[in-house]
Amino acid sequence: MRCLVANWKMNLLSASAGAFCDALLADPSLAGSSGCQLGIAPPFTLLKQVSEAVRGRRISVFGQNARAEAEGAYTGDISMAMLKDAGCAGVILGHSERRRLGGETDALLAAKLQAAWDAELLPLLCIGETLEEREAEQTFPVLQRQLSILGPKPGPLWIAYEPVWAIGTGRRAEAKQIQEAHAYIRAELMTRMDEAAWRVPILYGGSVAPDNFAELLQIPEVAGGLVGGASLDPAKFMAMAKTAAKTEE
Ligand code: 13P
Repeated sequence: MRCLVANWKMNLLSASAGAFCDALLADPSLAGSSGCQLGIAPPFTLLKQVSEAVRGRRISVFGQNARAEAEGAYTGDISMAMLKDAGCAGVILGHSERRRLGGETDALLAAKLQAAWDAELLPLLCIGETLEEREAEQTFPVLQRQLSILGPKPGPLWIAYEPVWAIGTGRRAEAKQIQEAHAYIRAELMTRMDEAAWRVPILYGGSVAPDNFAELLQIPEVAGGLVGGASLDPAKFMAMAKTAAKTEE
């Protein structure tokens, strides 16, 4: 199965999100292949609007974050159940921007992961090394640490390998670097999940764009992409969706 998820981050308002969904739904190719699972992760304010717009279509809506606690006095935050209530099927967890800007630790993410499973949301766990960690040859230990929160018997999940230095820089990681990281992640999953590990899609994220997506999908173990900047333009998003559908695994 191919996967393509748009991470809108803190972008778009109701008018532009509506125009995005209209363009997406008007594209005849969307009704075609069923082999590419599409996802959109809008900001909180647009979750309900986007979920309602894509209801009944082959598109899942993801939250970009939520709190681990079920409810309570957490001004400004929202819960996993609230994401679900707004129409989400999944939630992005551990994005490097939240690790870096929001101070999210692996311990916190372990609690969020469990909360997502408890709320029957599909976690899309983001992992990846910084440039300093790569240069210090710490990529695999970092990935191992970030994956350790899965515990011995993880529930259903998707993973996105997003090297921090490739995010928003226009500098996509090289094929060999991606292949090595994805193979490492798969092997780590195998130690915890046996055969079920093969059903976990491993997406790549970091400067994915229509002109490099086909090449990306040729790399072994790459199930698809988690896309930031290029996902804000419906024409680019649909171009990538078509590429993914053409190269169904
Ligand atoms: P860019 O596609 O803008 O590099 O962002 C990647 C990302 O962070 C997706 O989660």
